[in-house]
Amino acid sequence: DWSMENFIEVEMEKIRQEVGDRKVLCALSGGVDSSVVAVLIHKAIGDQLTCMFVDHGLLRKGEADSVMKTFSDGFNMNVIKIDAQDRFLSKLKGVSDPEKKRKIIGNEFIYVFDDEATKLEGIDFLAQGTLYTDIIESGTATAQTIKSHHNVGGLPEDMQFTLIEPLNTLFKDEVRALGSELGIPDDIVWRQPFPGPGLGIRVLGEITDEKLEIVRESDWILREEIKKAGLDRDIWQYFTVLPDIRSVGVMGDARTYDYSIGIRAVTSIDGMTSDWARIPWDVLEKISVRLVNEVNSINRVLYDVTSKPPSTIEWE
Ligand code: XMP
Repeated sequence: DWSMENFIEVEMEKIRQEVGDRKVLCALSGGVDSSVVAVLIHKAIGDQLTCMFVDHGLLRKGEADSVMKTFSDGFNMNVIKIDAQDRFLSKLKGVSDPEKKRKIIGNEFIYVFDDEATKLEGIDFLAQGTLYTDIIESGTATAQTIKSHHNVGGLPEDMQFTLIEPLNTLFKDEVRALGSELGIPDDIVWRQPFPGPGLGIRVLGEITDEKLEIVRESDWILREEIKKAGLDRDIWQYFTVLPDIRSVGVMGDARTYDYSIGIRAVTSIDGMTSDWARIPWDVLEKISVRLVNEVNSINRVLYDVTSKPPSTIEWE
């Protein structure tokens, strides 16, 4: 009989059989899939697992600390944090084309991972959070033809590792249930999707430190208010976007000429299609007031009311 406890026992035994006394590497992003894989394998083989968490400088506010706290401190796992902000940001300097940005971030991720993985010795296996749906979708035309997707699963094919993919028979809702069963905190199990290129595709056009900071701070405020309003489980994804435009406003008696910030909030089943979330006016008002008051260089707030299609969820 299939049950979650049963699944965990069976998978742990399989992992132990396959790995023996050898070592496993796992790219941990803090997303649901890689978190569940890492915790499951850790439960099976403990310190024979090493996780690598790459900070590409395009993460949300507090994200790197929270991943380290949860997995390194909380689960007592071996997590190596790679501070690669400079590598990514210098490669992205002067680049404004969305697809070029995506490719640079995706490729750099592979180079960084490869460089760091070769420094570790005696690793035989690479664990990945591939789901059943990832396998079906890669055989068909998907969003990948519209945008070049990058995630932590996209690692070099010529690596000398044997792949371990314990989630490849599961759907997303089963992975969440498994995560809860394994004691992974709700904020990770129910985390909204976050793209591999991160805030890099939410600063439209060229990425600068100043613009990243605006997106990071505004995203934090939006997330806080959505959570306070109790909407965080109803809305599939909610984030802010910084278009490359400025407009005139007034602050006190003075003219301002500052950025507009966009709010994107959508409902969806699988991300393939989506509708814009009907966030109540009073919640939007609170968010708007906080954004202009608390984030530097913002004097206007926009709400994206387009469905997918014809739009996409992310703006780049
Ligand atoms: P779009 O913008 O294509 O996004 O409507 C659909 C869903 O995919 C997420 N997304 C990504 N996820 N790597 C990922 O892992 C990526 O490169 C990427 N690009 C978009 C997006 O956030 C939404 O959930």
